Amino acid sequence: MAFTAEGSLLFQPYKIRGMQLQNRIVLPAMVTRLSGDDGFVNQAISDRYLSFARGEPGLMVVEAMGVHDAKSGPLLRASRDDFVPGLRELVNGIHATGPSKVAAQIIHFLKISRSGWRQKIQDLSRDEITAVIEFYGAAAGRIRDAGFDAVELHMAHAYTLSSFLSRMNNRHDEFGGRSIENRLRVPSLVLKRVREVVGDDYPVGIRYDGEEAIKDGYSVADSSMMAVRFAGLGADWISISAGGKFEDAIHHKGEPLYPYTGYSGDRCMPSSGYPDGLNVYMSDAIRAALRARGLETPTVATGKIRTPELAESVLQSGRADLIGIARQLLADPMWPKKVREGRADTVVPCVYNNVCKALDERFHRVRCTLWRKHDLHAPDAPDDTTPPAWPEGAAVTASPKDGRVHLEWTPAEDDGGVYGYMVLRSEDGTDWKHVDSARGVAHRFEDPSALGGLAYSYRIVAYDMAGNRSQPLGPVAITLPGV
Ligand SMILES: Cc1cc2nc3c(=O)[nH]c(=O)nc-3n(C[C@H](O)[C@H](O)[C@H](O)COP(=O)(O)O)c2cc1C
Ligand code: SF4
Repeated sequence: MAFTAEGSLLFQPYKIRGMQLQNRIVLPAMVTRLSGDDGFVNQAISDRYLSFARGEPGLMVVEAMGVHDAKSGPLLRASRDDFVPGLRELVNGIHATGPSKVAAQIIHFLKISRSGWRQKIQDLSRDEITAVIEFYGAAAGRIRDAGFDAVELHMAHAYTLSSFLSRMNNRHDEFGGRSIENRLRVPSLVLKRVREVVGDDYPVGIRYDGEEAIKDGYSVADSSMMAVRFAGLGADWISISAGGKFEDAIHHKGEPLYPYTGYSGDRCMPSSGYPDGLNVYMSDAIRAALRARGLETPTVATGKIRTPELAESVLQSGRADLIGIARQLLADPMWPKKVREGRADTVVPCVYNNVCKALDERFHRVRCTLWRKHDLHAPDAPDDTTPPAWPEGAAVTASPKDGRVHLEWTPAEDDGGVYGYMVLRSEDGTDWKHVDSARGVAHRFEDPSALGGLAYSYRIVAYDMAGNRSQPLGPVAITLPGV
């Protein structure tokens, strides 16, 4: 059924420890690699977050920022007081732009080297563990001083606190071993310390993996109990990610190990080959465990939730309280506003090809492949309601090429320029699926996912900067030769 914002849960306000969200859409943390190695907020960082703010998600979580000064690639920092003025300016700008509340995600990570070596939590002395706890407390205090509405503690993926939670935690003291209680000890002490520093009136969220997605890693049986602990200690939301571990990462010679290169990386940032909403079951199980113990802490489900229909059904069925949408908001930051205003058909859809992830891996500035070639941010949605049009005689052709369907079409026309083309495919001529998109400069596309022997039809839809879509061009029919 088509989604309408009125009467939906997605656009109902939600209150977290006094912080009123105007809708239930969360922008989860996404590092941008836009800061310099110095870790200060700069113009590019500010522009990126103001563009998200214009879309009006309920809560924006600003990308992971280091609680300590250890070397890494470009990464924001909250490790010293001199970072506070820049962070304050960022928050003020976001608040001045729209109604979104804004949290900062804070992270501690261990050392890695280009040789593939990495420091492990087993290497940490007791003093170093105490320092980690203090780093988190001090950084959370700075986040509050900078005016953020909340702080989120990064306990997910391959980083320090996640490694304590992990079943791969090989410490033999009270901070490790096979017991979940011991694995929870350092993350719990961090949460307690942060609470002491920020006070009882300040929202503190946790983000961690619902499933490690590695051999012998933990799944929802453990992560449900972790949520019970965090909620019991007063965490204000439980944001659930998945995977992103060093254990199955692939080492490229001479490069630092990137924890999203293995299967667990796929589960963290699932590409087009995975089904929509694949990680929702984790939020479902964790939320059920909380509610069974009378704990009302909200859960945030994330992972290829791209349509308002899916988001709403997750909320309606009680599988999550808030919906995290990361890459789709990178592709089109105006998603929440467009959907609320009944303009979901002007959303520029993410194609989940993970070009943004590949840029992150190489410490390059994170951008979306759908944006115009040299743009550092999504284009500002112009006040334009006129869609692109096809010139007289426009056509789309399809031919077989090396086991793929090769499509070519006549360029569309638009006053402000064509921003991109959506490739739609159908087997029955009625149910049209968006298989991929091409940038406005491209007028051809090769579909590698067509099965020989099946009859397909293709249509092309052009869209402009505001997301206005043309009438479909086509259809054109083709059947690839089978075996
Ligand atoms: C480029 C990039 C950077 C990311 N950085 C972070 C981060 O700093 N902290 C975090 O918890 N998750 C990070 N993530 C994971 C996202 O928050 C999100 O969980 C993931 O992309 C799946 O959601 P999606 O399918 O809606 O994109 C990042 C993802 C991407 C693509
Ligand atoms: S680069 Fe690809 S996966 Fe990343 S936001 Fe853009 S379309 Fe989505």
